[in-house]
Amino acid sequence: MRLVFLGPPGAGKGTQAKLLRERLGIVHISTGDMIRDTIASQTPTGRKAKQFYDRGELVPDAVIVELVIERLAQPDCSVGFLLDGFPRTNIQAAALDRALESAKLSLSVAVLLVVPDDEVVRRLSGRRICSSPQCGANYHVEFVPPKLSGKCDLCGSDLKQRDDDRPDAIRRRLEAFHQQTAEVAAYYRATGRVRDVAGLGSADEVHRKILAAIGA
Ligand code: AP5
Repeated sequence: MRLVFLGPPGAGKGTQAKLLRERLGIVHISTGDMIRDTIASQTPTGRKAKQFYDRGELVPDAVIVELVIERLAQPDCSVGFLLDGFPRTNIQAAALDRALESAKLSLSVAVLLVVPDDEVVRRLSGRRICSSPQCGANYHVEFVPPKLSGKCDLCGSDLKQRDDDRPDAIRRRLEAFHQQTAEVAAYYRATGRVRDVAGLGSADEVHRKILAAIGA
């Protein structure tokens, strides 16, 4: 299966992508993680991307499209993939379609996780992530709390807040979603490729709704 996950920041795309990866055995590609790796590498591209990322704005299409197309060409993606956070603009969506067409492939479906803005703010302001780059586990102070406050259940490292989970950056990310990414859903809807899934409820409940929506 070749899937994309659409939805506002904090909709649960990353959480659901990990559950689906385990269930379907497909490759999970998070463009947010790719951008954070690029920033950590401190290359010229990483320094440029950081300016956009820290403000909660989308990085330029040319940067992210190149990263994703290179990643999709890796042999492991032949089993199927799930793109989490890409495409976010119609330019990116068209670039993905072209790349798949040139490989004589097509997208199976786009899953749109629907979550209201006030829930997004609750989820992102309470999110905590493991500070160990090798682990990166994801928690929420209220909904998915660690057993020991401030420590990762899996590796014991300190938990931290993501740089773009500050109130001003959350607001800009929501604006970017409503202004730019919402039109991507319309792009896929025009060709009957969108499955809307309500993102409220527990992570397991949402997972079951996604499986039903994609017929898996
Ligand atoms: P990215 O990392 O993709 O961030 P995002 O889309 O803003 O999404 P998040 O990772 O914040 O949320 P999520 O939907 O994955 O939710 P999660 O599962 O973590 O992108 C970051 C930045 O990178 C962008 O702003 C941009 O600068 C750049 N970028 C990335 N891709 C780009 C692109 N294609 N083009 C241009 N720029 C790009 O869940 C959130 C919280 O809620 C967690 O704490 C979790 O535990 C909790 N939670 C999850 N599910 C539930 C549930 N069902 N109930 C209660 N709590 C839940």
